[in-house]
Amino acid sequence: MAEELDMTRIPQHIAITMDGNGRWATERNKPRSYGHQAGVDTVRRITSECVRLGVKFLTLYTFSTENWNRPSDEIAALMGLVLTSLEDEIFMKNNVRFRVIGDMARLPEEVQKKLRETEEHTAKNAAMTMVVALSYSARWEIAKAMREIVAEHQANSSEPLRPEMITEEVISEHLETNFMPDPDLLIRTGGELRISNYLLWQIAYSELYFCDTYWPDFNEQDLQKAIASFQSRQRRFGKTEKQVEEKENN
Ligand code: IPE
Ligand code: IPE
Ligand code: MG
Repeated sequence: MAEELDMTRIPQHIAITMDGNGRWATERNKPRSYGHQAGVDTVRRITSECVRLGVKFLTLYTFSTENWNRPSDEIAALMGLVLTSLEDEIFMKNNVRFRVIGDMARLPEEVQKKLRETEEHTAKNAAMTMVVALSYSARWEIAKAMREIVAEHQANSSEPLRPEMITEEVISEHLETNFMPDPDLLIRTGGELRISNYLLWQIAYSELYFCDTYWPDFNEQDLQKAIASFQSRQRRFGKTEKQVEEKENN
């Protein structure tokens, strides 16, 4: 059954931890890479559905820094999938801009090249931005931001860096995600109730939604359910219920 959604309150930015590919495949007596392949089809469907609903940013956790510790054949299969699944068609058909966040330098050369090309080809697409987090972890990102702040200051000034120069805005501007707003909604499929080093800074006030469905089985209705849950909540940002209601009525 399709959910009744309030189209005026669609989350602007949805982040997803796409988990459960391996278990989905194992339950079918297939290699884990078969689950990752199936997961790519889900990415296509969910991307189209997000565009249809008017979501502006979709950030997909695709490969974490910690995932480098997986068996090398699984890593190779995942890198292969990144290469083959980045067809321009899905982006052009849906008018989607593609961006990558993460430690690109660790990726194989040809993957880096394909990612850059896809970013360039899709740069003018404006319906939605799809952001793929690859070789990404939030602690890596935050530590890198700190190093950049210091390095930029040293390159531009002979004065010592003053502590008060480190503000929340300056930190945000140096994160990989500096071109987009923070996620309104974070969805994790696959049943685990954890964050796994994803967007730690940016999800400070995101609404969280966890579901048991494995990523290859996650469909448009499941996405609508997550958005309906988001819409049923009151985001208070520290204020009282009454304060928020008064603001909404003005
Ligand atoms: C998520 O699925 C995809 C990646 C981390 C690359 P998993 O591969 O973690 O699947 P499970 O959690 O083992 O089922
Ligand atoms: C999180 O999934 C990373 C991605 C979905 C890319 P994992 O399956 O790697 O997370 P943990 O290790 O179980 O927390
Ligand atoms: Mg997993």
